[in-house]
Amino acid sequence: DWTMESFIDKEIMRIRKIIGPNGQVVGAVSGGVDSTVAAKLMKEAIGERFHAILVDNGVMRLNECQTVKKQLGDHLGINLKVVDASDQFLDRLKGVTDPEEKRKIIGNLFIKVFEAEAAIIDNETKEGGHGQIEYLLQGTLYPDVIESISHKGPSATIKSHHNVGGLLKDMKLKLIEPLRELFKDEVRELGKVLGLDDELIWRHPFPGPGIAIRILGEVTPAQVAIARLADHIYIEEIKKAGLYRKISQAYAALLPVKAVGVMGDKRTYEQVIALRAVETTDFMTADWFSFPYDVLKRISSRIINEVAGVNRVVYDISSKPPATIEW
Ligand code: XMP
Repeated sequence: DWTMESFIDKEIMRIRKIIGPNGQVVGAVSGGVDSTVAAKLMKEAIGERFHAILVDNGVMRLNECQTVKKQLGDHLGINLKVVDASDQFLDRLKGVTDPEEKRKIIGNLFIKVFEAEAAIIDNETKEGGHGQIEYLLQGTLYPDVIESISHKGPSATIKSHHNVGGLLKDMKLKLIEPLRELFKDEVRELGKVLGLDDELIWRHPFPGPGIAIRILGEVTPAQVAIARLADHIYIEEIKKAGLYRKISQAYAALLPVKAVGVMGDKRTYEQVIALRAVETTDFMTADWFSFPYDVLKRISSRIINEVAGVNRVVYDISSKPPATIEW
């Protein structure tokens, strides 16, 4: 009989056999459920010989790095290194407004930073006489495997370079993919058995280029701060209202326009936050989420009161297609 526990036992045995008694493995983690479950499985199989790397690209959510460190490092005991490359990323993003260019810059720099870090770890383990890094962990799921085999057209291409793992394919390392036979719901179940918190298991997907593609126009540290805080308040209120799991994905976008407002007896001229929330099963089509008005009201007044530089909040009522989920 197939049970999650028997899957874990078998997979751990398989990993140990492939990696051998001295093999070292690296893998990128993001704080999302797939990379975390894959990392925890590796930790159970080979302990400290699995090296997780979290690249701080400067466009993650508010306090995200600390949260991932606590969850993966402290709580799950994964051997985790956090690389703060935020200055490098923000520097390269200066003056860039085209979303595809932002994606390319972040993707390419991510590879460079990750490879450099993997090389450092490789040197350390070799010098310590503990063997070298031969494998790269990928959190590939069964639908990704199918999609890359069947070449479903443009959507397959989009998905493959959405995935952080897909970016690292050119590294001269062999791949290890412990989740390649599982569907998303099975990964969540596996996460539960492996001791991941519900909060992490049910986390909405978050794009690799992070809030850089949710800030329309130039990505400056000041814009990052605004987008982050607005998003944080939005998600907090969604959770408080008990709606987080009903929604497939939600975020706040920062628009590159200014609108007139009034405060006391003065006019203001500040930015606009657009709230996005969708329901979907496959992210290929999506409906906008029907919020109760009182929740929208709370979110709007909190963002306008608490986020300096924003005087207007709007709700995006566009479905996909023709609108995409990201702006
Ligand atoms: P769209 O905007 O195409 O989004 O409707 C569909 C899903 O893909 C995610 N997405 C990305 N993920 N890098 C990623 O890792 C990207 O560049 C990217 N663009 C979109 C989006 O968040 C949604 O879940």
